[in-house]
Amino acid sequence: MIDRRTFGLALGGGLAGLALASCGRKEPAARWRLGFSQVTTTEPWRVLFSREMRDAAAKHPDLQLTIADGQDRTEKQVSDVEAFVRQKVDLILISPKESAGLTGAVEAASAAGIPVMVLDRGVETQAYRQFIGSDNLKIGRMAGAYAVDLLGGKGKAQGKIVEIWGGMASTPAQERHKGFAEAIDAEPGVARVVDRQDADWKQDRAYNIMSSALKAHPKIDLVYAHNDPMAYGAYLAAKDAGRQTEMKFLGIDGIPTEGAKWVKDGALTATFVYEPPGAEAIEQALRILKGETVPKRIELGTEVVDARTVDAFLAKRA
Ligand code: FRU
Repeated sequence: MIDRRTFGLALGGGLAGLALASCGRKEPAARWRLGFSQVTTTEPWRVLFSREMRDAAAKHPDLQLTIADGQDRTEKQVSDVEAFVRQKVDLILISPKESAGLTGAVEAASAAGIPVMVLDRGVETQAYRQFIGSDNLKIGRMAGAYAVDLLGGKGKAQGKIVEIWGGMASTPAQERHKGFAEAIDAEPGVARVVDRQDADWKQDRAYNIMSSALKAHPKIDLVYAHNDPMAYGAYLAAKDAGRQTEMKFLGIDGIPTEGAKWVKDGALTATFVYEPPGAEAIEQALRILKGETVPKRIELGTEVVDARTVDAFLAKRA
């Protein structure tokens, strides 16, 4: 069989042949260009999310995916989305740092006629084609029910709780709080001694919040953190104070390299899986680009990972 290079040389020879030879190695131009504005690329959950999206996109030669790193800053994300609009990409995906702060960028992209998909964290507008994420209210309720069980069961639960928030301006933190509070506030014997402390999803900030909480409260029974890195940060603070066995730690995300591992190691009592939406987003993006009608909202599942389920969970995800 004649390859492009030989063909080019045979055909034109000289310069024309060289030109063909040099572009012979290039991929054919993709039919659709996708721009994904990812809030940050440092946290392991984000890394997994972006990797699964890249892997899914790589299976479709029609797609060319560019991922912009928002560097955990709203302003950077706004300018990343604006750049995608200027480049006239065929579809924009965004996982926003904050809901209000990224609402305008989403509206402007939609107004420019580019389909927009919002992933994991919500915005304060309906001007997008689709949202994909887990139900954070449900996850909060599951965590709340789990905490009530750990503290003695419905109607009998007793204890002091520290709640460490993810970014307060984001929908997952707001919903994870709300669902949890519904279960906890129904228990007269349970008090949240620390609440509304924003650690912005970061392990080191949670460590500091927990260190202060430990100084202020001689007895703490349970820590609920809005993600696993913060739950682990709180655990490390308790450990450094020699008090880690006094209380239980609950987190959210459940990825095999972090939360599930920390459950297996005995640091966290449980974590609630928060599925990264990257692979599903690519399947849905293709449907939108092909002109299909897609649901406005796609919900990804969740499950609890604790001492009873962690081995099966890790085997399944290996
Ligand atoms: C990563 C992360 C996850 C969390 C999600 C919420 O940036 O903080 O740990 O579950 O974002 O949007």
